[in-house]
Amino acid sequence: MQISYKKKLELNKGIVLVPVFDDLKNLPDYIQGWLKDRIKEGSFKTEYGDLIWNYNSDPKVPDLTFVVALGDKKAITPALIRKAYAKAVKQIRTKDLHELNVYLPTSMHAYLQEISEGIALANYRLGIYKTGKDRQEEMDKIIKKVTFIGELDKAKKQLLDKGTLIGEKVNEVRDLVNGPHNYININYFTELSKKIARKNKYKVRILERRQMEKLGMGALLGVNLGSEIGAKMVLLEYMPNGRNEKPIALVGKGVTFDTGGLNLKSGNGIDWMKMDMAGASVVLGVFMLLQSLGIKKNVVAAIPLTDNAIDAKAQKPNDIVTTYAGKTVEVANTDAEGRLILIDAISYTIKQYKPEAIIDLATLTGACMIALGFEYAGMFGNDNELKAAVAKAASETDEEVWELPIHEDHSKQIKGVFSDLKNLGAGRYAGASTAAAFIREFVEDTKWIHLDIAGVSKSDRPKDCELEGSASGYGVRLLIRLLENLAA
Ligand code: BES
Ligand code: ZN
Ligand code: ZN
Repeated sequence: MQISYKKKLELNKGIVLVPVFDDLKNLPDYIQGWLKDRIKEGSFKTEYGDLIWNYNSDPKVPDLTFVVALGDKKAITPALIRKAYAKAVKQIRTKDLHELNVYLPTSMHAYLQEISEGIALANYRLGIYKTGKDRQEEMDKIIKKVTFIGELDKAKKQLLDKGTLIGEKVNEVRDLVNGPHNYININYFTELSKKIARKNKYKVRILERRQMEKLGMGALLGVNLGSEIGAKMVLLEYMPNGRNEKPIALVGKGVTFDTGGLNLKSGNGIDWMKMDMAGASVVLGVFMLLQSLGIKKNVVAAIPLTDNAIDAKAQKPNDIVTTYAGKTVEVANTDAEGRLILIDAISYTIKQYKPEAIIDLATLTGACMIALGFEYAGMFGNDNELKAAVAKAASETDEEVWELPIHEDHSKQIKGVFSDLKNLGAGRYAGASTAAAFIREFVEDTKWIHLDIAGVSKSDRPKDCELEGSASGYGVRLLIRLLENLAA
């Protein structure tokens, strides 16, 4: 999406999107007449989310004007603004329009980042694996050029650019998560990580299977036994504040496909398991942005990568593995693989970086989806201040979280009989909590947040800023805001 700026509305050409609150203030003169007529005749209500358009033959005004209603000014929030613009842009796209002028009166200047984010997020498309005419049709559906119109000084333009950039990187993450395993596999991730590191001058290291064998990462390597491609772990460092400040560590589950292993998933259950690397993708998405946004916080990433596949060498139920931390774990169910790869990444991160805090993101349990549906990630943690900071960033970005508990009994359930621990609770109840209890065994005294993003990583419900039936990119905006808030 190409962005440009103008001070005043062009008076003879183009398509313009104009916002209106129900006080009908801040409207360009030429609209006043027809908008009031429409309101009088009852075809436009200025209720939040209403959209109306008008073709003009007058050469002194734009050809086509869309008016998006924002309702009551006192009830408006940044999240509502983002959604209203996203919804409007989705409708505009159905009309095959590719250049959009966005009129920004001063009443909108408090929401510039949300506006451009909403526009960019709504401009997402599928179809990159289509060819020929079908591909062209998909690509033609996007808006190519946006011109923001208003009295916009440098700082305001920067906010608009920032929202656009964030939205576009979220869309890149969506492409990753939507990408099938035969394209987006372990090697794709490591190559992409190197590319991001090169571009942004981050330090990057990739641990290969051999090195991890030497290090004793038995939990991660056990999951990898049935795979064609060797497991890898991507380590990224962004250290703008120098080596003395402890970093925030982001750990993302990177199961590039989850068959379930020998505890094979059913037909329904295996569908969409290409997205089991959403956590990894989101962490990479954050690293696509840290440098460009100039975030003043040290951040490291650890991204464990493997698929969970089956062949003769695949790990068997009841196998006992020795983790990097030295504890033994019975693999009571090979489909509970996410927690196994996370714990080795977390232990390594603690040893290597002594982070101020660890935040892990993982499409970890179906149980979390059962509990919270598609609206909230499940949040677990061991530090109230950090939980509050995550909850604040979540509400600011409208990527919501809901705290779930870890009961003493949940921890009891994952105690082992033949080994120190087992990777499965007693039954299917509180499955998100028993998974979190298992991970907590490995965080030592580090501040820690675990976000179970199984339910929010794919849009199964219509949402304004997302494309239904596609990966959502949930978490990039939340983490960026959290890091910004922590740096402030
Ligand atoms: N990747 C799945 C969880 C998942 C399910 C993510 C649906 C997204 C959508 C995870 O590895 C898994 O299989 N979890 C099991 C754990 C069980 C065996 C304890 C589950 O939730 O059923
Ligand atoms: Zn699984
Ligand atoms: Zn999984």
